[in-house]
Amino acid sequence: MIVKENRDIINKENLLIVRDLIQKRTGIFFPESKILTLEKPIYENFLDSMSNSFSEYILHLTSKNGDTYFKKLISCLTTNETYFFRGKMDFDILKNHIFPELIKRESSNSRAISIWSAACSTGEEPYSMAIMLKELIPKIETWKINIIASDIDETAISTARKGEYSQWSFRGVDIDIVNKYFYKKGDKYKIKEDYRSLVQFIHHNLISDNPPSNGNGDDEKFDIIICRNVTIYFKKETTMGLALNFYNSLKNGGYLVVGHAEYSADNYSKFISRVFPNGIVYQKSVNENKNKKNVPAQIKSLKIEPFKETDNLLNIIKKSSSAIPKTSDNLNLSEHRNNLREETIIFNEAIKYYNSSDYDFAIDRFFKILDINPKNVRASWMLCHMSANRGHFEEAIKWGNRCIEIDPLFKEAYYSLALIHLERKEYNEAVEKLKKVIYIDPNFTLGYFTLGNIYALMYLHSQAKDCFKIASDLLSSKPSDEIVFQAEHLTVRELLNLVELKFRTA
Ligand SMILES: C[S@@+](CC[C@H](N)C(=O)[O-])C[C@H]1O[C@@H](n2cnc3c(N)ncnc32)[C@H](O)[C@@H]1O
Repeated sequence: MIVKENRDIINKENLLIVRDLIQKRTGIFFPESKILTLEKPIYENFLDSMSNSFSEYILHLTSKNGDTYFKKLISCLTTNETYFFRGKMDFDILKNHIFPELIKRESSNSRAISIWSAACSTGEEPYSMAIMLKELIPKIETWKINIIASDIDETAISTARKGEYSQWSFRGVDIDIVNKYFYKKGDKYKIKEDYRSLVQFIHHNLISDNPPSNGNGDDEKFDIIICRNVTIYFKKETTMGLALNFYNSLKNGGYLVVGHAEYSADNYSKFISRVFPNGIVYQKSVNENKNKKNVPAQIKSLKIEPFKETDNLLNIIKKSSSAIPKTSDNLNLSEHRNNLREETIIFNEAIKYYNSSDYDFAIDRFFKILDINPKNVRASWMLCHMSANRGHFEEAIKWGNRCIEIDPLFKEAYYSLALIHLERKEYNEAVEKLKKVIYIDPNFTLGYFTLGNIYALMYLHSQAKDCFKIASDLLSSKPSDEIVFQAEHLTVRELLNLVELKFRTA
């Protein structure tokens, strides 16, 4: 008997059983707020399996014979969103720092580079790296380049193997790049064989399968593992386990590149954090075995890399191809307007995620905006604010300084930096930043209030009182339910109460 009405079969309890099974086998976790998105795919999969009851279906899914159905179900549930050169900032770090370092080292060595693009979806990410490497390495045919690209979703992997893409996979990519590395096949673009042959696709489950071999026949480990926009769907403990597997699959000194929403000092505590102007990359210690005994895993070193104006993907392609025009200079007005519209749409989406505490998704969207327009100061500031809230102060400072670089009069950045200095008890630096805030906006009440608090902490009581007095005067002229500072959801009334209390006790 095949049940026609899904509500008879798929009650919440049943959904939760399958949800837990999916998490156990793939790591992908659906919180209760998203559980209803499972209903339709599970019901269709249930019908497809010809099971007579839901318990039979579950048994089927967990048996060897049911593997095909499980894979089909996973294929419907995975988010395969990807495109060429997605996350320009990661590609900038690869192009400007990691690839040149490896190429230099290997050119007088074994001339072999192995990369694992873990959870590559339909292949745009590994092919983008192949294109980049081919531009960077002269006579690449004399090298052993192995890019192993894996995904749990077999449908995605077979698309990747074909290497044929619609226009949508090239959003944000200059048309000249498409013309150089692809050829037209019907209404699609197929990657040229020179680049395709650098990538080998395999089906692989990050949670249950052994790591793939690097294909070079050496110690089977990788120089780089790139795994982006995957662990946002995992629970923290799953990500931590995966981070350890990646660590063990890297050569000493090897790099792990994760998505911007996936940065986490906790999850990658075994790695050294390399902080570049465009983001963070995790590195396995060069002296892993020597360090093992001496350095506790929780001690993390931090290396700040210098900012280069030239850190941008298009420069490498430009350098090697005179045919390619400058993108930003050549953007016509309608492209510019489209970008602005897209930025606004994504920004609103990000703020919605932020307000519903879906921070990882919000961060992903803010980075998307910076992919379109690296000079979007509000997106940079939100990344500063959110990094600070997560206690990632180095990263927050980097974003705050980036905002000031983009717009030296952007007071919110100075204010966030002041709060970070305050948190770190760096009172003089905090005062300096707050003075800038007040210079830019003499009516910024929160600036006076915070400055007053810092003066009080520094035992400078009369300066503190002066600041609270100005804050109180400014607040008295405003409607009491007005929001003072959006990011803190603080009203005039609430701040005034605080200011008056502080004034009395300063
Ligand atoms: C959003 S895509 C990311 C693609 C690419 N890395 C990028 O950032 O553009 C996420 C991919 O993770 C894959 N995935 C999810 N869980 C996985 C697992 N347990 N093992 C391997 N791949 C997995 C999905 O099939 C999907 O293709």
